[in-house]
Amino acid sequence: MAIIEEVSSPFEDQRPGTSGLRKTVEQFSQPRYLENFIQAVLDTCTELQGGTLILGGDGRYYTETAIDTILRMAAANGVGRVLVGRDGLFSTPAVSATIRRRGAAGGLLLTASHNPGGPDGDFGVKYNIANGGPAPEPVTEAIYARSLEVHGYHITQEHAEVDLSREGAAEVEGMPVEVIDPVADYRALMAELFDFEALRDLLGSGSFSMVFDAMHGVTGPYAKALLEEDLGAPRGTVINGEPKPDFAGCQPDPNPTHARDLMERMFRHDAPDFGAASDGDGDRNMILGRHFFVNPSDSLAVIADHLDAIPGYRGRVSGVARSMPTSRAVDRVAEARGYECFETPTGWKFFGNLLDADRVQLCGEESFGTSSDHVREKDGLWAVLAWLSILAASRESVEAVVRGHWSRYGRDFYSRHDYEGLTRDQGERLMAHLRDRLAGLAGTPTGAGPRVTEADEFSYTDPIDGHTTTGQGVRLWFDNGARAVLRLSGTGTDGATLRIYLETWEAEPLRQNDECRDVLRDVAEAVREVAEVKAITGRREPSLVV
Ligand code: G6P
Ligand code: ZN
Repeated sequence: MAIIEEVSSPFEDQRPGTSGLRKTVEQFSQPRYLENFIQAVLDTCTELQGGTLILGGDGRYYTETAIDTILRMAAANGVGRVLVGRDGLFSTPAVSATIRRRGAAGGLLLTASHNPGGPDGDFGVKYNIANGGPAPEPVTEAIYARSLEVHGYHITQEHAEVDLSREGAAEVEGMPVEVIDPVADYRALMAELFDFEALRDLLGSGSFSMVFDAMHGVTGPYAKALLEEDLGAPRGTVINGEPKPDFAGCQPDPNPTHARDLMERMFRHDAPDFGAASDGDGDRNMILGRHFFVNPSDSLAVIADHLDAIPGYRGRVSGVARSMPTSRAVDRVAEARGYECFETPTGWKFFGNLLDADRVQLCGEESFGTSSDHVREKDGLWAVLAWLSILAASRESVEAVVRGHWSRYGRDFYSRHDYEGLTRDQGERLMAHLRDRLAGLAGTPTGAGPRVTEADEFSYTDPIDGHTTTGQGVRLWFDNGARAVLRLSGTGTDGATLRIYLETWEAEPLRQNDECRDVLRDVAEAVREVAEVKAITGRREPSLVV
C-alpha cells in the first residue's frame, strides 16, 4: 500500500469545543492543518482501528476536499471501513442515528452548524463516539493533547477517487468504502417513533398547510423525504431545500432574525397553519404557528406534556431535562406528570449521561434545541414531527395548543437579551464583579422596582458520574417572582457575548396575553442596574432580543 508520511509541525490551536474543531475555511485550508487534526483523532480514538466510521456533513464549502483527505487517511491508518453520505451529506442527528443503528465505532461530522459557509465562512470537524453523541471532554482533550504532538501523518498517495454522487461500494487502497443514502436510517427511525398514518391524515386533510424552511442547509433532502414523500405534504412544502455550500449567502440559524423567508410567510395574511425551520446541520429547530412564534422553552414544555401519546414513547417517559437558562415551563409539566426533572448547564453534552442511563427521555434548551433519547444530538426534524403529532391529535392551531398549555400550567414569559461584540475583558469583568458581590445581593432594592431576594452561581453535579461543573451562570431571583440568569456565550469565536435570560410566571389567564416586552421590562432594567451593564460595557440596550 502506498503510504507517505509527511513531516508536519503541530498546530497549537486545535482544541475542540463541544461542537468540535470549528475554524474559518481559511484556517482549515492551511497546508497540513486538517491532516494534523485528523491524525490526532485517529491516534486517540483507537476504536476506529478495524471499526466502522460514518462520514458526512452539512455540505458546506470545503466538504469534498475534507472527505478526500479523511478517506485517504482512514485507509492509511487502519480504519475498518467508512460509510459516507451521498454527496458528502449527513445531518448531525442522522449521523447520530446511523452510528447507533449500524453499531459503528464513531463518526466524523463536517459542519460548523449555523455559522455562515462558503470560502469566507466557517468549517468544522466533530468526532462522535459509539453512543452517537459528541465525544466527551476527556476524549476531546486527549485529541487536543495529541494534536500538539503530531509530527507526521499517514495518507495514501493517490486521491480517493470515490464517486460521492452515487450510492454503492468502493474502496480506497483496500479499505472498503460505501456511499450510502444519508436519509435512509433516519427516515426508518422516524417511522418507528411516530404514527405516520395520523400524520398523513393531518397533512393530507386539505385543511392543514405547512412550510418547512431548510435554510439551504442539509435538512432539505430529509424534510422532502419525510414530509413530502412519506407524509404526503404537497411538493413545495419544503423551501430553501437544496443544500448549498454557502447556504446561498444566508446564515442558516433558525430564529426570527435569520429565518426571514419563513417569518415573512408565517406572518402574512395567507400564512399556513404551521411553520418550522432547522439550521445548517439539522440539529436546531424553530416552531411557528400562523402569526405565532413558539418560544423554544414553551415548545419543550408542550412536547413534554404530549410525549407519552407518541407511539415511540408510550408508557416509558420518566424524566426530562433542560439547560439552566431554559425557562421553568417544562418543570411544571414534569411535576404534574410525576417525571423527574433535571437542570443542567448549557450544552447538549450535559444530557448525554442522563439519556444513556435512561433517566430522561426528552431534553431541550432555550437555544432552539430539542430532542429525545432516539439519538444523542439535538434533532430539528424530530421536533417538527413531534409538533405535527400534537397537532394531529388535537386538531387545534399551534396558537390554541400553546394558549391552552398556558391556561393549564400558567405562562412563563421569557426573553433573552444578548449584548454582542463586547470585548473579552468587558464580559469577564462584568461577570467577575457580579460574582464578587453575590453574597451581599439579596435584599438589594433597585430603582426599577424589583428587589433581589436570592443570588447564586450555578454549578452542576452530574447525578450519573458525580462530576461537578462550576461557574455556569449567575442566577438572580426577584421579589416579584421573576428570575434572571447572566452568562457569557461559550460558542463565540472572538470577543464576548453577554446573555441575560429573563423570565416570570403568570398564572392569571387575563394577563397571559400581555406583551412579553412589557411584562419583563422592570426586571430587565433591574438586572442591568444590579450587574452595572452600562458602566462596564457602555451599552444601555441589548443588541439582540430573542
Ligand atoms: C450550541 C450547543 C447548545 C447550546 C448553544 C448555545 O448550539 O449545542 O447546547 O445551548 O450552543 O450556547 P451559548 O454558549 O452560545 O449560549
Ligand atoms: Zn447545528
